Amino acid sequence: MRAPLLTRVLDGALDRSLVLGYTKVGPALRRRWWPADPEPGCLAGEHVVVTGATSGLGEAMVTMFAELGAVVHVLGRNPDKVARVVREVRAARPTAELVEEVCDVGDLDAVRAWCADLAVRVDALRGLVHNAGVLEQERSETAQGHETGLAVHVLGPHLMTELLLDRLDAGRGSVVWMSSGGAYSAGLRSTAEEIEYCEGPYHGTYAYARTKRMQIELADAWNDRLRGGDVRVESCHPGWAATPGVTDSLPGFDKVMGPLLRDARSGADTAVWLVATRPDSTGTHHFWHDRAPRPTTYPVQRRPDPAARRRFTTYVAAATGTTWP
Ligand SMILES: NC(=O)c1ccc[n+]([C@@H]2O[C@H](COP(=O)([O-])OP(=O)(O)OC[C@H]3O[C@@H](n4cnc5c(N)ncnc54)[C@H](OP(=O)(O)O)[C@@H]3O)[C@@H](O)[C@H]2O)c1
Repeated sequence: MRAPLLTRVLDGALDRSLVLGYTKVGPALRRRWWPADPEPGCLAGEHVVVTGATSGLGEAMVTMFAELGAVVHVLGRNPDKVARVVREVRAARPTAELVEEVCDVGDLDAVRAWCADLAVRVDALRGLVHNAGVLEQERSETAQGHETGLAVHVLGPHLMTELLLDRLDAGRGSVVWMSSGGAYSAGLRSTAEEIEYCEGPYHGTYAYARTKRMQIELADAWNDRLRGGDVRVESCHPGWAATPGVTDSLPGFDKVMGPLLRDARSGADTAVWLVATRPDSTGTHHFWHDRAPRPTTYPVQRRPDPAARRRFTTYVAAATGTTWP
């Protein structure tokens, strides 16, 4: 059901103001009109994978999915951190069904090996949240020679989605990319040089924004590809949430905005809600924040043209050794 006009206008104004919509003010107001919470136990016994689950939003999601009854696959690249999260969530919630998963999502060989292993253990997947994120100040490359942010945010998750597609199909699954409002500051890059950020001086924050833009465009492209089927693919952004990622990568931002930042649960809310409720998403783009679809570009920006998106998906497919139909 659509919210009344006045509510939609107010919600949109919060969104454009950034500070109000993205901070803890946003959910404090919006929860008065946003859609209902998922039903308790609605994911009972269903398998959900959360990547980047050893910190911040991902760690919050582990608890939130466990509260809905899901079997949560807690995926991180550091086994000690994965074990710590599982231990702490179990201590607080002894009935939680948690599975420790170790994979560096930026390493395409590791992603292939992990997906093959998961496919032996799990027949049907209800949720796959691509939450792992990095913001690096210097350009670095992965074992396969890809820019690290691109590999972690785009290539690894894309390959994971391809390799787990039949499991997602069997589970009426939802795939969610955790993007960022920072994507609004970057257009879609579509040459190999630009996609890999080889073309000039490297700026970490801008590199991050570019790959967050790519996540939104890739989720949209996946949606076009799978339209009419059982698998949903969405992207969302969490607003500005107090997490180790923000404290460590953006200390200046944290210092200024600290008191206004929302908590990790509130930043994770839309991703969990998307998987748990599978809201109607028949629109032309699939980018969510605080339980509502949001524009993927602001009115003054040009939307990426279909040819650029085609070049981009072709590059992603080639880099991951997959085919884009
Ligand atoms: N917090 C915000 O306000 C905000 C705003 C916009 C977007 N986001 C997005 O939300 C997501 C979560 O952010 P956060 O703030 O919770 O960050 P965080 O506290 O830094 O957590 C990031 C998680 O990703 C994991 N990770 C990084 N590289 C990985 C890799 N190669 N393989 C597997 N896991 C990897 C990290 O593991 P390690 O502990 O091993 O490093 C950590 O568990 C990110 O995608 C971020 O871009 C957050």
